[in-house]
Order: sequence, then structure tokens, then C-alpha cells
Amino acid sequence: MSESIQDLGQGFWTIRGDLKIGGVLNVGTQAALVRLPSGRFVMLDSYPLRGKLREQVMALTDGGRAVDAILNLHPFHTLHCAVAAVDFPQARLYGSRRHWARHPDLSWQPEPVESEAVAAMFAPDLEFTLPAGIDYISGDERVHAGSLLAWHPASRTLHVDDTINLLPVPRLLQPLFPRPRIFLHPSLPKAMLTDAGAREALHSWLHGLAQRCTQLRWLCAAHSGLREFEPGKFSDELEAAYHRIERKLPPG
Ligand SMILES: [Fe+2]
Repeated sequence: MSESIQDLGQGFWTIRGDLKIGGVLNVGTQAALVRLPSGRFVMLDSYPLRGKLREQVMALTDGGRAVDAILNLHPFHTLHCAVAAVDFPQARLYGSRRHWARHPDLSWQPEPVESEAVAAMFAPDLEFTLPAGIDYISGDERVHAGSLLAWHPASRTLHVDDTINLLPVPRLLQPLFPRPRIFLHPSLPKAMLTDAGAREALHSWLHGLAQRCTQLRWLCAAHSGLREFEPGKFSDELEAAYHRIERKLPPG
């Protein structure tokens, strides 16, 4: 895998990045740039920009000056917040309370990224949705199922970190399974709230997401997935992914 920026059309660019665990295994990561009708940009997630990728991003955004805001969507994706804040010093910086705690030296905006106030600022160009029935910020550092998802209706793109993943298909199996399969994060059962009705709330949120994204064309998933869908296919596959993990969820 190598770094790239891909134009998905209608003002959405996905950045496919490298993230090496222990300096060796590249699990990949992602960020995105969204051009608003005003011509200004929003960055979804943070990524260290180097070399050719940096040149491309800077060319697109008037040397970074056209980036108005950086939205860090996943509470446990905190590695690159500081470098992005340096690259785009004039951009308003949003994150979750966990981002604030990990980087207390950065100039965070007072509204949490997952708040309705932030969603209202970028509507209707971007629609943000927080999964129901699970923790956004789990007390268990290994539970990464919660995230804030971003839907860009103009390009029919869903940008999602960890909650929904794409399973890469090894080259040898590609003749049998040509496309990466959707799966829900394996830590989802551990992220469930203990409230009565949490499971139903999660299912109904997923069903609502499937309905909202019925025309989805692009799924951008961290850590390494990008897949194009025929209209209608994503919704069916998302429901199927839920049913595969459903029996592992606590009852209630
Ligand atoms: Fe992650």
C-alpha cells in the first residue's frame, strides 16, 4: 500500500494513508478533504502529509489556506492530530473529549466533534451520524467500534473509521471473492451499552444508515478499505454484516 489521494467526484477526495504498527505491519489509515459549495474545505481526520501527497493536497487547497476546519472523527485515532493542526494553522480544530485529553496543548474548538452543534455547521453538505446503542468513547482502550460517521450526499460517499470495515481479499482468493467484504468492528459486542434496548437501538440505527445510504457509491473505511458499490448493494451488505455479528451481541 502506498499513500494516495483519490478524487471521488462532487467535491470529495479520499486520502489513503500508511499506518505501520510497530514500524512494520502497514494497516493503513485514512483522511478526506471535502470541498463545500463556498469553495472552502473541511478535512475529515488527520494525516501527516509528506512528499507528493503533500504537494497534491496543498495544490488543491491553496497551500492549505482554503481548509476551514479539521474534524477528528474517531476518539482513538489521535496520532496525527498535532501535525494536521500545524499544517493548517488557520483551520478550526474539532475532536472528541479523548482528543482534547490526549492533546491538551492544541487549540480545540469548544464543541465536541460529535455534537449536534458541529453537525449543524456542516449540514447539509455533510451529514454526521453517531451509532446508537454503543459507546462512542469506550472505557476499554481496545474497543474501537464507536466512531462518528460522515455521509457526503453529493458524491454518495460514506467515510467511516473502524465501526464499519472492509476485509481485504488476498490476491489468490480474488477470483472467488473479487470485492472486499463489509464487516462490523469485532469489538462491537464489547462496546454495547448496558441499557435495556441498546441492541434494538443499534439495529435500528444501522437500518437507518442503510436506508440513508441506499444510493451509496463509495465506502471509505479505515484502516485500508475503499470500495465502489452499485446503487442499493451497500444497504443489503450492511444488513448482512449486522446479522453475522448479531449472535455475538449481548441480549437486551
Ligand atoms: Fe482504528
